[in-house]
Amino acid sequence: MIDLMTDKKHDELRQGEAYAPFANDPNHYHKRFYIESYGCQMNFSDSEIVASILNKEGFGATRNVEEADLIFLNTCSIREKAEQTVRKRLTEFKKLKQQKKGMLVGVLGCMAERLKSKFIEEEKLVDIVVGPDAYRSLPELVNEAEQGQKAVNVLLSREETYADISPVRLDSNGVTAFVSIMRGCNNMCTFCVVPFTRGRERSRDAASIIAECKDLFDRGFKEVTLLGQNVDSYHYALETNEGEPTGSFFTFAMLLEAVAKISPLLRVRFSTSHPKDITDDVLHTMAKYENICKYIHLPVQSGSSRILQLMNRTYTKEWYLAKVDRIRQIIPDCGISSDIITGFCTEEEKDHQETLEVMEYSRYDMSYMCAYSERPGTLAERRYKDDVPDADKKRRLTEIVETQNRLSLESNQRDIGKSFTILIEGDSKKSADDWMGRSSQNKVIVFPKEKIELKKGDYVTVKVTDCTQATLIGKMIQ
Ligand code: SAH
Ligand code: SF4
Ligand code: F3S
Repeated sequence: MIDLMTDKKHDELRQGEAYAPFANDPNHYHKRFYIESYGCQMNFSDSEIVASILNKEGFGATRNVEEADLIFLNTCSIREKAEQTVRKRLTEFKKLKQQKKGMLVGVLGCMAERLKSKFIEEEKLVDIVVGPDAYRSLPELVNEAEQGQKAVNVLLSREETYADISPVRLDSNGVTAFVSIMRGCNNMCTFCVVPFTRGRERSRDAASIIAECKDLFDRGFKEVTLLGQNVDSYHYALETNEGEPTGSFFTFAMLLEAVAKISPLLRVRFSTSHPKDITDDVLHTMAKYENICKYIHLPVQSGSSRILQLMNRTYTKEWYLAKVDRIRQIIPDCGISSDIITGFCTEEEKDHQETLEVMEYSRYDMSYMCAYSERPGTLAERRYKDDVPDADKKRRLTEIVETQNRLSLESNQRDIGKSFTILIEGDSKKSADDWMGRSSQNKVIVFPKEKIELKKGDYVTVKVTDCTQATLIGKMIQ
C-alpha cells in the first residue's frame, strides 16, 4: 500500500507540543499533560477542548514530554499512513514510560474510536482510550487509569457539541483561531472512515458559536475559521427558553452573516464545503461582507463522474464544474482549493485524465492530493476491490502533483502587480526582518517590515512584486 504525499497536510499541521496558561504555576496545577495532535483541523480544535477539560481538573499543559505525567495523542485514521505515524510515535513513548513510573499514555480521536479497547490489548503501553465524543469523561478515565484499571470510553453521541466548553488556545499566534460549529458527518463517501469515527452530524448552538467568536475578537483575535466536516449542512433549530422548538432555524449562511457582523475587523473563514451543499445563499453572503474571506475549499476527489458515483459523492463532473462557474460568477476573486484522491477502485487512465481536466478548468490555487488508502469498515472496503496497482497510483499522483504545482505557480503569477489587504500573522519563517500574512484568498505573503511600527494582528495593504509556487512576495504600500 503506497501513500505518497498523503500526509503532507498532516505533517504541516502536526503540532508537536501544547501550551496552556499557568503551566508553570505549581499552586495552580498538580500534574502536567502533553498533547500532540494529528489529522484535520477538527482534531486540533478538539485538543483545545481537551486542554480546557484537563485544566479544570488541575492538569497543566507542558511543551516538554519528559516532564509530563500524562501523554495524549489525538489521532487520525483517514489513511493507513496516518495510523502508522501514531503507532511509531507510541513506540517512541515506550522508553519514556519505562523511565518514569506512573506516567500514563492516552490515545484520543479517530484512531481511538476505530480501534477501541483493541488499542490497550495490542499496544501494551496505552492506558487510556477516548473517542471524539467522550472527552468530558477524561477526568474519571484518568482516575481509573491511575488505579491500574482499563480506561476506555468510545461512546459516540448524537448531541455532544462541547458547546459550553471554552477551548484553551494551544500554541496560538493570538491572531487566528478555529471554532468548531458542528461534529460528525452524515455523508457516506465510500472511501471515508470519518462517519464511523466521528458519528452522526450535529450542529452546535448558534448562540454559543457567536459568543465564542465575539470573545475571541474581544481578546484581540482577528480571524476565526468555522470548522466542520461539511459546514454547508449546518442547521440549528432554535428553541424557546423552555426548550420547545420555535420552528425557526439557523442555516450556515445565517451563521456566517452573524459572525461577520461581530466586527468588520474580524475575518471569517470556514472549512470544509461539500460541493453538493454549498448554496447561492452562502456565496451571496460571502460576496456581501468584505470580512468573509474569498476562499472556498471545495474538494472534488475525482474528475470522473463514474468514479464520483462509486465514491458516493452525489455530484457529477459537470455539476461540480457548474458550481465552480457559479462561485466565479458571484465572487469573481474567490480562491478555490481542492482534495483529490488518485487510484480509487477501478480508476482507469481516462478517469485520471478527467481529474486533470477538472484541475485545469477549476484553476485550483492549492490541493491536498493523496493516493487512495483502503480503510477497514468503509463501504468501499466492503464493496469494491482496491485494484489499481501501486505503480499506477504513484505515477498518476505524480502527474496530479505536477499539474497542481504549475497551477499554483500560475495563480500566484496572476497576482503580481495586484494589491491585497493582508492580516499579519507573525514573522516570516525565514527572516525576522519580514512579516508573514494571508490575503483574503488564503495565500501566504511575505514582505519586508521596513521601518514602520506594526504588529501581528494588524491589517496592511501589500503589493505583490514576485512569487514562488507556494508564496507571494510583496511590498507594503505606504
Ligand atoms: N469532509 C471533507 C473531507 C474530510 S477527510 C470533505 O468531504 O471534503 C479529508 C480528505 O482526506 C478527503 O477530502 C479525502 O481527499 C482524503 N481521504 C479521505 N479518505 C481517504 C482514503 N481512504 N484514502 C485517501 N484519501 C482519503
Ligand atoms: Fe468523509 Fe465524505 Fe463526510 Fe467528508 S463528506 S468527512 S469525505 S464522508
Ligand atoms: Fe483524521 Fe478524524 Fe480528521 S480521521 S482527518 S482526524 S476527522
